[in-house]
Amino acid sequence: MDEQGSGTSFAAMREAIAVLDFGSQYTQLIARRVRECRVYCRLFPYDVSAEELAAFAPAGLILSGGPASVYDPQAPHLSAHLLALGKPILGICYGMQALAHHLGGQVSAAARREYGPATLDTMDTSSPLFARLQAPQPVWMSHGDQVTLLPPGFKIIASSINSPVAAMADSQRRIYALQFHPEVVHTPRGMKMLRNFLYRICGCQGLWTAGSFVAQTVAQIKAQVGAKRAICALSGGVDSSVAAALVERAIGDQLTCIFVDHALLRQGEAARNMQLFGQYLRTPVILVNAQQRFLQALAHVVDPEEKRRRIGETFIRVFEEATAEIGPVDYLVQGTLYPDVIESAGPGKSKSAARIKTHHNVGGLPADMTFSLIEPLRDLFKDEVREVGRELGLPEEIVHRQPFPGPGLAVRIIGEVTEERLATLRAADAIVTTEIEAAGLGREIWQYFAILTPLKSVGVMGDGRTYSHVVAVRAVTSQDAMTADWARLPYDLLGKIANRIVNEVPGVNRVVYDITSKPPATIEWE
Ligand code: XMP
Repeated sequence: MDEQGSGTSFAAMREAIAVLDFGSQYTQLIARRVRECRVYCRLFPYDVSAEELAAFAPAGLILSGGPASVYDPQAPHLSAHLLALGKPILGICYGMQALAHHLGGQVSAAARREYGPATLDTMDTSSPLFARLQAPQPVWMSHGDQVTLLPPGFKIIASSINSPVAAMADSQRRIYALQFHPEVVHTPRGMKMLRNFLYRICGCQGLWTAGSFVAQTVAQIKAQVGAKRAICALSGGVDSSVAAALVERAIGDQLTCIFVDHALLRQGEAARNMQLFGQYLRTPVILVNAQQRFLQALAHVVDPEEKRRRIGETFIRVFEEATAEIGPVDYLVQGTLYPDVIESAGPGKSKSAARIKTHHNVGGLPADMTFSLIEPLRDLFKDEVREVGRELGLPEEIVHRQPFPGPGLAVRIIGEVTEERLATLRAADAIVTTEIEAAGLGREIWQYFAILTPLKSVGVMGDGRTYSHVVAVRAVTSQDAMTADWARLPYDLLGKIANRIVNEVPGVNRVVYDITSKPPATIEWE
């Protein structure tokens, strides 16, 4: 197949699965699992239009779970056109109940609500969904309702003690349904079931790889940009780095990259970033030193949201001025990821309305700028971006960087941001980082850093009394930053970090370790 601009659209070349969102907390996880099986998929609201779905041309549909009961007045129902498409369907939990309800079966409240582990005692292993599996099989249940009468044409293909219809199928119409959740890790062979559905039932081959993504995206960007010019704000994070490398591969030096040093970076970060950019980008990166601009903008500001607002605004102005010097530019490259797209589009989702923190991704789109956007990663999950980064030859140091907030150290200094306080935090933070990495824990901990608190406490050093700053250490484990737990760092390591900080960082005489999970706390302190 010719991937290099033969005029064939990306959509037409790939095999794809549509995941219909009925409101489950696991919908994104289903999509990630499908991608892990190397099959492209996209989330759609449960009531996606027939036209939109047909244009996507899926090889199969997966109906997610959801919190509703099919008999709720507001329950999301199955649209008839999903079935009319004639493609294989896999319903999961509520997706199964919605299928049963629609197709003339019966759904009732289970005698006992079932949350947690269960065992499939019988499985019809002649069903392609369970090929190369056998009972007993541990699975994860999470439901109040269950199917009590099969729709015509269906038969039971798995049962557990509490769920006689733990799985059902109409193999003629290629419709399959599971009462349990194959996408969660607590269903150990769930991936095998999903793979069976994708490969044996939908006929997918696993064409979605980092290599195929790079080839297709590079061709698309080339066609889109032609001879025009693009700019990209690099932050040093994995998303903007991978986006820039992809676009550069497509259009070479028609791309200009800008790195803004906003004074809120970690120790040695600006120099190290510039060095790394030099290793994987051929075109030079423009370094804009805007340290004083940012520090002035932040003078006397203590409110976290006001800090973010000022940093966002200053960034836009600095970026505008830097671009004006480059000359006319038509495109702005952004490292937007699929979860950002899903969250802003909100298919079938009622996103939590409370704004916890305004997230300014430094490099965000200035409202009054007249660029078109190139967002080459808007189809990808974070782990896929990392794979693409590797495919493009980016160093592991970038591909595996821990997330760092756009407003940088400003949200880790509680109270006013000054040059002196930044210096204190940088020195403490460098010790935290160095020690955790030296202990070989860098990979398994999601984020680790220091916070400069506004507290002072009494201490004794040598023969003298001190009255100095308290530094907090934060280290968390997480999958996606939506939830997090504090990392159980070894006591000796914590001791060493505390000891080094009070001995080596002037003005600090006490170190505390933050042992709060998210929720109820957040990862950053501001
Ligand atoms: P919280 O503190 O909300 O953070 O638990 C979740 C993740 O987001 C990062 N974070 C930010 N990233 N701009 C960003 O680009 C921000 O203003 C911001 N605030 C928090 C945080 O480091 C964590 O990974």
